[in-house]
Amino acid sequence: MNVITNRVEMNQIVKNYKCNAKTIGFIPTMGFLHDGHLTLVKKAKLENDITIMSIFVNPTQFGPNEDFESYPRDFERDERLAEAAGVDYIFAPSVEEMYPNEMGNQLSVLKRTNVLCGKSREGHFDGVVTVLSKLFHIITPDKAYFGIKDAQQVAVVKGLVHDYFFPIEIVAVETVRELDGLAKSSRNVYLSDNERKEVPALYKSLLMAKSEIMNGEKAPEKIIAKVKEYITKNTSGIIDYIEIYSYPTLERLDNMNGKIIIAIAVKFSKARLIDNIILDV
Ligand code: PAJ
Repeated sequence: MNVITNRVEMNQIVKNYKCNAKTIGFIPTMGFLHDGHLTLVKKAKLENDITIMSIFVNPTQFGPNEDFESYPRDFERDERLAEAAGVDYIFAPSVEEMYPNEMGNQLSVLKRTNVLCGKSREGHFDGVVTVLSKLFHIITPDKAYFGIKDAQQVAVVKGLVHDYFFPIEIVAVETVRELDGLAKSSRNVYLSDNERKEVPALYKSLLMAKSEIMNGEKAPEKIIAKVKEYITKNTSGIIDYIEIYSYPTLERLDNMNGKIIIAIAVKFSKARLIDNIILDV
């Protein structure tokens, strides 16, 4: 495995592979790797000749009061895990390499961002599509892999690729969970011991919602109220949102029909956790 920090060098390496008709699978990450990230690698390795992972904590997707500075980082551990998983190249640029000058142009997401994390984290998805556009130009992958844990991100990125004709297939991968149901996340390390004991309640609340819906409940507000009650009773977290929308369009529903997402975000003392399930009803 090789670690590349220079964008021109990275692009040249990819060009050489492309001359030899090799396919490129790309996994963008912010590092502090866990099984969620490594499952994306596994899928990419099955479907491509060369696997490239980026590790870059992207400042433009963090709000002024968010955790950019304290976001967990451990590059040596990431290197070991990526190598063991069979990653061929890590692209790990500095902030200066990705943002060498003050930008004179701006990408801004117009659809699907007035809800969920887009609403709670103003400007977040503008930062995500900005960095991904840069990374997609450097890596020029055939396929890029994203986790459904960040379902709104998947929908937004599919919109980006569609609007700007990036010749890239976006592959969405199921959420990887701990044995007790907690969705794996780099931010789980922020949880206190007590909070860690409570947080399986998040996924449990989603499963409860799923069974209510499967048993015929069609009114989103009733499901939302039940999930809220469950989380409030079983955790010390503060609910940021509990919402039900159509997926991937993320539009409000009066009645649940077709593909829907139940998405939650809950704030604990140091960690804000998100989770969701997508159902066909
Ligand atoms: P990061 O949070 O590091 O996540 C990188 C990728 O791993 C994302 O596609 C995310 O959805 C996926 N992932 C995280 N937890 C997962 C889990 N438990 N199961 C399956 N997949 C999981 O998302 C970002 O970084 C950034 O926004 C990025 C796309 C890199 C742009 O900066």
